Order: sequence, then structure tokens, then C-alpha cells
Amino acid sequence: MPTKKTIAVVGATGQQGHGLVQAILADPSGPFAVRALTRDPNTPKARALADQGAQVVAASIDDPASLRAAFQGAYAAYCVTFFWNHFSVNQELAQARNQAQAAQAAGLQHVIWSTLEDTRRWVPLDDPRIPTLHGKYKVPHFDGKGEANQFFAPLPTTFLLTSFYYDNFISFGMGPKKAPDGTLAIALPMADKPLPMIAADDIGRCAYGIFQHGPEYIGRTVGISGDQLTGSQIATAFSHALARPVAYNYVPPETYRTLGFPGADDLANMFQFKRDFNDYFCQARPISFSRTLNPQLQSFRQWLQSNKSRIPLE
Ligand SMILES: NC(=O)c1ccc[n+]([C@@H]2O[C@H](COP(=O)([O-])OP(=O)(O)OC[C@H]3O[C@@H](n4cnc5c(N)ncnc54)[C@H](OP(=O)(O)O)[C@@H]3O)[C@@H](O)[C@H]2O)c1
Repeated sequence: MPTKKTIAVVGATGQQGHGLVQAILADPSGPFAVRALTRDPNTPKARALADQGAQVVAASIDDPASLRAAFQGAYAAYCVTFFWNHFSVNQELAQARNQAQAAQAAGLQHVIWSTLEDTRRWVPLDDPRIPTLHGKYKVPHFDGKGEANQFFAPLPTTFLLTSFYYDNFISFGMGPKKAPDGTLAIALPMADKPLPMIAADDIGRCAYGIFQHGPEYIGRTVGISGDQLTGSQIATAFSHALARPVAYNYVPPETYRTLGFPGADDLANMFQFKRDFNDYFCQARPISFSRTLNPQLQSFRQWLQSNKSRIPLE
């Protein structure tokens, strides 16, 4: 039997990495083996991956030596950063650079870098349409990832533009909220523009499809989404799935940014970018192409059908 090529997966116990680990494990006759990176191989999530047959290794993207060891001998890596754990673009840049340098040191033949747009290419800092944050950014958690593309540019990299997770309606505070009169509504700053979205697990499955294509997508930017729906369409899908009315409230970015939760300004600017550059943003993430990478790609309604019991209805 030919030796399998090892794909090292950063964030293997998290949302994006989990999908890729499961896709590799679900294809035991395929060409790839999986090495799951975690800061702690003894957590229940990490142990579960080992029980499923993944090689589980300890590494932190804040620790270059641990990353170099974890990438050594691998064929490829899935690289991702965790902005919402620290809210620091500087730390995100360092984490991306650490991964790129470790990939280079290990001589990896293919890297997928989970990135997003540097929105300053569309809205320069002196453009007042979107407020500048921290003196340097328009959408900090996008701009840092886009800026970090430079670290991966010299490597055999596929730049993967991800989309808003459906899962944010479960775990990121985006789900339907109950008004005092008991009616449910979702709030998004998208006006009547479609929002590209995807199941977090489908990101990993698309990444698996990219690896399956060999060198075809090296040096290319690939955008993915599973659905592109307006706020009204999202609310209608919720109404059907939950069998009760769910309304869509358009909350303008100017209001959203004053909501006061951590990252509200960053997210308000993100939604404004997606609203105001909507044609570009949607076209960069074609659904039909995403399905060629991942035939299991779920529409929002399909995902809701499987996950509606997990939606917290506050
Ligand atoms: N939410 C969205 O809609 C969305 C859309 C597009 C892009 N993104 C981006 O996705 C990124 C997050 O990816 P995700 O959702 O897959 O993350 P996640 O589900 O929060 O997973 C985080 C995982 O990363 C690991 N981790 C955290 N810090 C680490 C470190 N220093 N070194 C190594 N591993 C570490 C943790 O594993 P251990 O505890 O096992 O180490 C954890 O399981 C963010 O940068 C965000 O901006 C999010």
C-alpha cells in the first residue's frame, strides 16, 4: 500500500479544522492521513480525534518551535488563526507568520491559508465611508488575514476565502432574539443584500476537495459559500424550520457599532463592507464552484433542518 501523505490541520478541535479532519478520516482509502494539532492532546475533543484514528500532536500557533515540529514530515497543512480569542491584529499577524515560516521550514508541498479580504484595498484608510479602527484598519479581523497573505505568497499556497458560518446562529450570538412581546427576529446590517454563508464543517470539506485536486489550486485564491441569502430570506428559512414567525430587522451599521459588545465595531464594519461591495463579495464565493469541491455542501435550509434544535431562542 503506498504511503499516505500527511495533512497537518491547525485548529483541528475547532470549527474549520474539524470539518477537514472528519473529511480525511471519512475517506480511509484516500491518499491522505491526518495530523491534528491542538494545544492540549488530553482534552476530550482531542482524545476523540485520536480515538477516531487521527495522529494528535501538541502545538500552538504562538510557539514557532512547536509548529515546526508539528509540520515536519507532513505533505500539506491547513493554516488558520483565531482572532476572536484575542481580538489583536498584531497577534493574528504573528500567528500567521509563524505558520508560514513553519510550513517553509518543513518544505510543505501545499498549504491552505484560511484568509479574508484586506478591505483597505476597497476602502482606503482616509475613505470616511467606513470608520477607521485602531488607526490602521477598516475591518480588523479581515484586514489582518488579508495582510498576512504576504507571508504565504512565497509558498505553494491556496488562499481560501471563507464565509460567515451558519453556526454563528448557534454559538456567536447571531441567532433569533425574542422581543418583549415574544416574537422572534434576527438582526443584520445587510439591508436587502445577500449574505454569503456556509456551514463551518463544509469549509473543511471544501479544503479537502482542494487537496484532492493536487496542485491545481496552488497559487490561486478560492472563495466558498453554501448559500447567499438576504436577511428576509434567512428569516423565512428560520420561520419554516422553527414553525413560528421569525422577522428580519435591518440594523444599520451605524447602530450596530454602538451595541457595545466586544467586537461590535469590527463586525459592523464587516457587514457594511459586505453590504456595500456586495456584488464583488458574493461573486468571489460562488456556490456552484464550492459544490464541485464539496459535493456534500449544505444550503442554509438543509443545515437548519439538521441543526434547528441547537438554535438558542433567547
Ligand atoms: N465565525 C465566522 O463566521 C467566521 C467566518 C470566516 C472566518 N472566520 C475566522 O475563523 C477563525 C477561527 O476559526 P474557527 O472558527 O475554526 O475557530 P474555533 O472554532 O474557535 O477553534 C479554535 C480552535 O483553535 C485552537 N486554538 C486556539 N488557539 C490556538 C493556538 N494558539 N494554537 C493552536 N491552536 C489554537 C483551539 O484548539 P485547542 O484548544 O485544542 O488547542 C480551538 O479548538 C477566526 O480567525 C475567524 O475570524 C470566522
